[in-house]
Amino acid sequence: MKSIAIVGAGIMGNGIAQVAAEGNYKVFLYDVNAEGLEKGIARIEKTLSRNVEKKKIDQSQSDEIHGRITPTGNINDLKDVDLVIEAIIEQIEPKKSLLTELDGICKPSTIFASNTSGLSITEMASAVRRSDKVIGMHFFNPVPVMQLVEIIRGEQTSDETFEIAHQVAERFNKTAISVKEAPLFAVNRILTPMINEAIFVLSEGIASAEDIDKGMMLGASHPIGPLALTDLIGLDTMLFVAETLYNETNDSKYRPAPLLKKYVRAGRLGRKSGQGFFTYD
Ligand code: CAA
Repeated sequence: MKSIAIVGAGIMGNGIAQVAAEGNYKVFLYDVNAEGLEKGIARIEKTLSRNVEKKKIDQSQSDEIHGRITPTGNINDLKDVDLVIEAIIEQIEPKKSLLTELDGICKPSTIFASNTSGLSITEMASAVRRSDKVIGMHFFNPVPVMQLVEIIRGEQTSDETFEIAHQVAERFNKTAISVKEAPLFAVNRILTPMINEAIFVLSEGIASAEDIDKGMMLGASHPIGPLALTDLIGLDTMLFVAETLYNETNDSKYRPAPLLKKYVRAGRLGRKSGQGFFTYD
């Protein structure tokens, strides 16, 4: 494994590109949206210069990491990479179309990993001929900080693909856990109902947003409250994730909080739009 392409330069994609470059891989960061790509690169530059200021790395290391990342809007640049990690919108159809397109472009040995938060890896693999080379590598936000990667095998994922995904996670300086394919895997299966419940508590007027978050930070030792965390993840992504759990299980206990839907419809998407449960500059 020498070269990795990340598809999607959003919150997750740019973080994955950074840790891949820090792991000494040659990285392509691909996005169809030129503005999104520019923003993603700017975000990486900001994190790297913060790390230089904090003396975690020196300027030449920062330049080297930066130099290993090639931004591109041309999908054909991905033809020779060893691994693609997709981090596009959290919906199955766009992910399947992307994989089908990549299947026709990338060399036969390229592995396709998805950073999905809980969609079926087996279904994604059905969109390509190389279904033994499709796997889930689920990172956590903010990627440069969070230590975990969940590794999820689809029905046809080979042992070799699984081993390689573990090795890559290690080179990214992350800790991997193996999780069976199931709606939302393990971490989000636990985290999402907690966040959804916090939104119900808010909408029922039981406590203010500030007090809900203060309560979970001081009463349960969470590093950040559930509503601020939703603002960090993005309310739209959180809604997609919550809907996956609800639709896949058909269990009403997982129904997404109506307030979450309402905020998403109003464009209150969290930090990225400047307003979610809280307001940002
Ligand atoms: N990129 C890079 N570095 C970042 C960062 C970012 N976006 N945000 C924060 N950091 C770094 C800071 O620079 C700081 O580094 P140092 O320790 O070297 O100074 C460190 O993280 C701590 O940051 P802060 O002091 O600013 O603030 P904090 O102590 O509140 O930490 C946090 C921020 C790391 C985000 C922390 O609040 C936290 O751990 N929150 C929980 C995050 C979490 O649960 N993520 C999982 C989300 S679920 C998910 O991602 C799955 C999904 O599929 C939906």
